Amino acid sequence: MTPEVATAIARLRERTAEARRAGKTVGCVPTMGALHAGHGALIDCARAGTGFVVVTVFVNPLQFDRRDDYDAYARVLESDVAFCGERGVDVVFAPPVEEMYPQPSATFVDVPPLAECLCGKFRTGHFRGVATVVAKLFHIVEPDFAYFGEKDAQQLAIVERMVRDLNFPLTIVPVPTVREPDGLALSSRNRRLTPEERRIAPVLYRALRQARATLTDGPGAARQAALDVLAGEPSARVEYLEVVDAGSMHPVDRIQGPVKIAAAVWLGNTRLIDNV
Ligand code: PAF
Repeated sequence: MTPEVATAIARLRERTAEARRAGKTVGCVPTMGALHAGHGALIDCARAGTGFVVVTVFVNPLQFDRRDDYDAYARVLESDVAFCGERGVDVVFAPPVEEMYPQPSATFVDVPPLAECLCGKFRTGHFRGVATVVAKLFHIVEPDFAYFGEKDAQQLAIVERMVRDLNFPLTIVPVPTVREPDGLALSSRNRRLTPEERRIAPVLYRALRQARATLTDGPGAARQAALDVLAGEPSARVEYLEVVDAGSMHPVDRIQGPVKIAAAVWLGNTRLIDNV
């Protein structure tokens, strides 16, 4: 069934209030659209775990550090709505920019300790934009559960921390990364890859797996092993590749607890991120 597309905050609130009155829990899947099987996994978890599922589709200008990247971001609402319909979503919340930001925001959510490394070092203001819009979406949807992909590990850590620090009355549910058969993590950005870049792209996950296999030799050796794999594809430009503490997201030089190996790599004009 085709879900209702709510573009106004007031209408979305009517629908969630109605669901709550009927005794349903509300699940929220925040997205920027261009939905793919990775989002499908988030939606399936929400559908399985809650009685009323809201998918938000909003390309958030506040989190883009480059205007050309914002402009190039795929906007395919019609097919996104059909995708949501196939997965039993109750409402798609797709507000125009003026509904979310009737005036430029003067209030921001920052999570500096978790946002200053990895992607945060290279994308000024990105996580401030993410945390601010996610806080707004949580206030609008008031979900009981919200679903985020593990592919964006730093985003997930920041949102989890924001929820704890600001006492949002909801639970964040992390969902494992969905991959193509050749290992490439699903991302809305993959559709921008040329056929040749798409052929090369799985090198990122291969490099991360190689690092994981070398981790017993220490973070330095693991990092080098991944960089060696990436060097095999000279057109892949490494932005960062780090072994980080899974809690603080800061690089470690000794393994003392759970770690993540996270990387960002450019193929032509497309930036891919992944982690294990
Ligand atoms: O992961 C995304 O698509 C976005 O960063 C999010 C969480 C929807 C906020 O705009």
